[in-house]
Amino acid sequence: MTPKIAVLASGSGSNFQAIIDSIANGFFDAKICGLLSNKDGTGAIEKAKAAAVPYAVIKPSQYSPDDFPHAILNQLLSWAPDLIVLAGYLVKIPSEIIQAYEGKIINIHPSLLPEYGGKGFYGMLVHEAVIRDKKDESGCTVHMVTEEFDEGPILAQKTVPVLPDDTPQTLAARVLKAEHILLPETIKSLITTL
Ligand code: GRF
Repeated sequence: MTPKIAVLASGSGSNFQAIIDSIANGFFDAKICGLLSNKDGTGAIEKAKAAAVPYAVIKPSQYSPDDFPHAILNQLLSWAPDLIVLAGYLVKIPSEIIQAYEGKIINIHPSLLPEYGGKGFYGMLVHEAVIRDKKDESGCTVHMVTEEFDEGPILAQKTVPVLPDDTPQTLAARVLKAEHILLPETIKSLITTL
């Protein structure tokens, strides 16, 4: 049976697009059952519309802390994913969701974890820190999501060089390009075990 993937994204959705493209060009067989965002008007939603992927917006501010996990869980239950991919989802995943989908939630992070992971390391802040520390390489990591932020088992990593004249922006662009390769590759290897 074709595995079903739900994607959670808050931003531009370029990793989400990489998954859409990988399925479209036959890199692996899967169906994206839904895209969940925490706010309106994201690039990810536009990409869902363009690819005719069902989408939902669940805003934390519209729910009590107790009801928010249930709203997400109900949405996921209706999509019935075999795999959940966090692709730039900037909301902490409630424990209820992690427990309900144990071992089935993965995240992509723009550093070579465990370095530059955890609270405060997201977006450009990661790349600024890498450059400040004069690292000569960076990269991206796909890992299992557990209750410990950015600490779940590492599934795959891809390294990129940090060049002497890099700015956080040029490094971010290089890492993002690597993410678009690493995420589909990791999903491909994972879904064969589903
Ligand atoms: C990526 O850098 C990813 O590693 C991080 O959030 C960013 C999402 O980018 N978790 P995009 O929305 O897929 O373009």
